[in-house]
Amino acid sequence: MTIIPTTQVDQDSFSRFHQSGPVKRGLPPEAYTDSAFWQSEKENLFPNNWMLVGFAHEMSRPGDALPVTVGDTPVVLVRNKDNSIKAFHNVCRHRCLKLVDKPINVGRILKCPYHAWAYGLDGQLRTTPYFAGKDPKAAPAGFNPEEHGLKEVSCEVYHDWIFVNVNDNAQPFAEFMAPLVKHIQGMDFDKVKLVGVVDLGIVNCNWKFLMENFIEPYHVQFVHSSTTDQPLTDHYTIVDGHCQGSAIDLDESAEGGDGSGDTLAVSSRYLTLFPTFVFGRYIPDQMGVHLNIPLGPDKTLQRRAIYMTDGTELDSESAEKLKQLWIDVHKEDHEMCERLQEGRKSSVASDGGLLSPHWENSVRNFQELVVSSLTEFSGSKEKQEASVA
Ligand code: FES
Ligand SMILES: [Fe+2]
Repeated sequence: MTIIPTTQVDQDSFSRFHQSGPVKRGLPPEAYTDSAFWQSEKENLFPNNWMLVGFAHEMSRPGDALPVTVGDTPVVLVRNKDNSIKAFHNVCRHRCLKLVDKPINVGRILKCPYHAWAYGLDGQLRTTPYFAGKDPKAAPAGFNPEEHGLKEVSCEVYHDWIFVNVNDNAQPFAEFMAPLVKHIQGMDFDKVKLVGVVDLGIVNCNWKFLMENFIEPYHVQFVHSSTTDQPLTDHYTIVDGHCQGSAIDLDESAEGGDGSGDTLAVSSRYLTLFPTFVFGRYIPDQMGVHLNIPLGPDKTLQRRAIYMTDGTELDSESAEKLKQLWIDVHKEDHEMCERLQEGRKSSVASDGGLLSPHWENSVRNFQELVVSSLTEFSGSKEKQEASVA
C-alpha cells in the first residue's frame, strides 16, 4: 500500500505515524521540511480542496481584482458588475503572462499589459488587437475568441470569506461549510461588523504548524498566560470530519467576559475546516478568521480579520486595542510554531514526537487528513496515468 506519495520521504517515519497504540506519533519531520512533500501538497492537497484566499470586503467595488496564489498557482479574484466575485487562472491566454500582479481596480476590462488582449470581468476574451496582422480588429482564420477566455476557477463566498477550489475536485461547498455552520448555530451574521484586518506577515514555519497550534487547547494556558484566561481543564476538543478544533464554556457573567478587554476570558469556539480555514468565536460578541497562505515548506503568510458579532462598531481606540491584543496572541503562537519548525532539523524529531490522546486527538485527526488527502489524489493520478498508458 502506498503510504505517502513521495519516494523521498522516509517510509519508516510514516510507519511510526501509523503505529497503533494509545499515544500516537505526529507527522514525520519531512512533512514540514521536505521539498518533495511540499511539492506533493501543491499538486495534490491545495488544488483539490476549498482554500480561503481573501476577504470580500477588500474587493468591494465592481472591477476590483485581487491576485492570490494557491500553492504556486496564480489566481485572480474579480468583482463583477452584479456584485458577484469570480475567480480565474491569472494567466493571459495569449502567451500566458501573469495578468494581474497587484490589487487594482481594472474598471470594466482586464487588459494584459503585454500585447493588450482584453477580457471582460466575466473572463470572456473581448479584443485581441493586431493578432492577425496589420488590421487591428481582424482575427486569424479559425481563431474563435469564445474559446480563449480566462479559465474560470470554482469560487464561493461565505460571509466575508472567499474560497477557491482550483481543480474542482473538492466536496460541494455547502458540505464543506456544514460543520462550521453547525458549531456556530444561532450567530446572526446580519449583526457582524468588521473591526479590521491585522497583517501578521510571514511566519517562518510550515502552514500545518499554524493549523495544529490553533486546533489544540493544550498550549493555551502556558503560552497565552498573559493574554488569555482560559483554564486548560475547561476546554474540550472537537473532531468532526474535516472540522477540528476545541472549545471552552465559561460562566458568561464572569468579570472580563466581554472579549474587548486586555485579555480573553470568554467562552470560545476554535474551529478549523481542512485544510487552512481558521475560525475563532469568542462569545458573546467577537469572531476572527485567519487567512493562512502557504508559501513554502517553512513559510506561511498570515492575516487575521476581526469582527464584532453583536452589531457594535468599535471606536478607533477600542479597535486598535483589540487589534493589538490579537497581534500579541499571534506573536506568542508564532514563536512556538517557528520553534517547532527549528526542532524538525534535529534527528530527535524523526519519530514525529508524541500527541496527547486527550488534548491533541484533534491534531492527530488533522494530520490523518493531510496524509489521506495526499494518498487519495496521488492514487487517482496514478490510476489516470495507468489508464493513459
Ligand atoms: S501575453 Fe497577454 S496579450 Fe500577449
Ligand atoms: Fe495559541
